[in-house]
Amino acid sequence: MAQLLSVNVGLPRDIQWRGETIRTGIFKEPVAGRCGVTRLNLAGDGQGDKAGHGGVNRAVFVYQMESYRYWQQQLGRNDFVPGQFGENFTVEGMADDEVCIGERFRIGSALFEISQPRVTCYRIGIRMDEPRMPALLTSSGRPGFYLRVLREGDVGSGDSIEKVGEARERMTVTEVNSLLYLPPHPPEKLRRAVQIEALSPGWRASLAALLASPAGGNAGLMPEVAAHPAAPGFKALQVTAIHPESADVLSVTLQQADGSPLPQALPGQYVVIRIHPATGGALLYRSYSLSGHVCRERYRISVKIEPGGRGGAYLQQQLRVGDALEVSSPHGSFILQPGAQPVVLLSAGIGATPVLAMLHALSAQQAARQVLWLHAAHDGGHHPFAAEVERLLLTLGNARRYVRYSQPRPQDVLGKDFDAVGHLSRTVLESLALPAQAQIYLCGPPRFMSEMKDTLAALGLAPGQVHSEAFAGGQSLRPGVVGTVQRSPHPLLADTDSGPLVSFARSSVAAHWRPGAYKSLLELAEACDVPVRWSCRSGVCHNCESGLVSGDVAYGPEPLEPAAQGNVLLCCAQPTRDLVLDL
Ligand code: FES
Repeated sequence: MAQLLSVNVGLPRDIQWRGETIRTGIFKEPVAGRCGVTRLNLAGDGQGDKAGHGGVNRAVFVYQMESYRYWQQQLGRNDFVPGQFGENFTVEGMADDEVCIGERFRIGSALFEISQPRVTCYRIGIRMDEPRMPALLTSSGRPGFYLRVLREGDVGSGDSIEKVGEARERMTVTEVNSLLYLPPHPPEKLRRAVQIEALSPGWRASLAALLASPAGGNAGLMPEVAAHPAAPGFKALQVTAIHPESADVLSVTLQQADGSPLPQALPGQYVVIRIHPATGGALLYRSYSLSGHVCRERYRISVKIEPGGRGGAYLQQQLRVGDALEVSSPHGSFILQPGAQPVVLLSAGIGATPVLAMLHALSAQQAARQVLWLHAAHDGGHHPFAAEVERLLLTLGNARRYVRYSQPRPQDVLGKDFDAVGHLSRTVLESLALPAQAQIYLCGPPRFMSEMKDTLAALGLAPGQVHSEAFAGGQSLRPGVVGTVQRSPHPLLADTDSGPLVSFARSSVAAHWRPGAYKSLLELAEACDVPVRWSCRSGVCHNCESGLVSGDVAYGPEPLEPAAQGNVLLCCAQPTRDLVLDL
């Protein structure tokens, strides 16, 4: 019979790591005597990152003494102590390749059920003083597993572990772990796994996503921001029209010079433009939303001409009809979702561009969905696409607009050009009675986005109903990092002129790669304060998966499963030549 060798607990504590403060509960100490067990925790235990490691499905983490012995041999170590792997229960027996998800065990006076394999992150690398540890644990088939608590009670070292319930669908922890993280992902096994009711909802959702998209990257792990990869590279497209839309916005229409079809875009996506400054110097990369009807014949981008903005200045002052412009494939996951729910297109200023493409798509579909166009502008001189939006709304049976000008000009006509004076605010949104089931598509300046997100949450809209686009890079994911203010992206303090040039297109900064100075593109991005997402930092979790706009990378170490074609796993990739990242 299996046995509980040690009960280990620890409350989150702050540690220093690479100049950052990390809050982590990975450090556990053995408990003397009995220890209370509740649905969420052992007494005296806690997780620093509840979203990643907490909750009823991850109440107790188990690791086996047999795996201790394995890692001592593999890593040539003899310094392990109980709780070394961040586990609550150090056990004899219960091997990952023997126990199944859904099996139930009595330990002490408490009752437990195996809920999911371990989710590894960089903190086990810190605890073990071995950064590869997340990948090693996952790839070895010895991840350990979590228990949910079915009956609260108490436990103590020396307790026997009695199996009291079999799983209906027998799938071991090792099998389920491999199914998510390691190719291939056999559909028949995925189908069986998603039926296991005891498997935590998060794992079932990931496995269901894999089942739905079995090819091209790991759909179960790929973050939403990287979910629409595109072929890397730039195409020289011909400028067929340049059209002013307002006092400070101009549209550029682009087509293949030979009339051949362009890569299909989705409404809401953007392209990256590569600009060769006439005066020489570094190439410029700028991301611009496609603002017109998305089709394979032409792209239309619309650009706000900012004072001092080099990209806008080039397009306004130098670009002419007939010129060639280097353009990437369409990128981005801010796209109009299919469905019958009401749609609210909510924008301010140049944020109208991607939602305008969505309005075009709704019009082309002759959608019966309720559509509300909500827009904030300074005045009629700075209100691009006003007539175009009116025309599109008229093609829809159930559509209306509401436009606010913060400072209308004398010639702007209330009720015709705009509907009220002022900003879009919570009071305004309340008065508009947004449909409860609406899908909201939000784009605008950072402050507007932040205020609108807070307002929509306060109005009771669920996060899944609100889709947003941030032009200057996405949101960071840095689990456990506390107390630091994210700085704006910037060039390297001490850059060189040699080595591959890595351009972060959305952040509009670039830096040369110096082998030895950085281990990965992730570290280079962090050195430039480019917003990044990560968790394991060793090629397991795919949180760092990002779009590769152009260029090539090599991997070291190899990730457990490659990124989708057109994407890159930043944490274990290095550039082999100049490259452009969708960051
Ligand atoms: S951070 Fe996990 S794969 Fe890169």
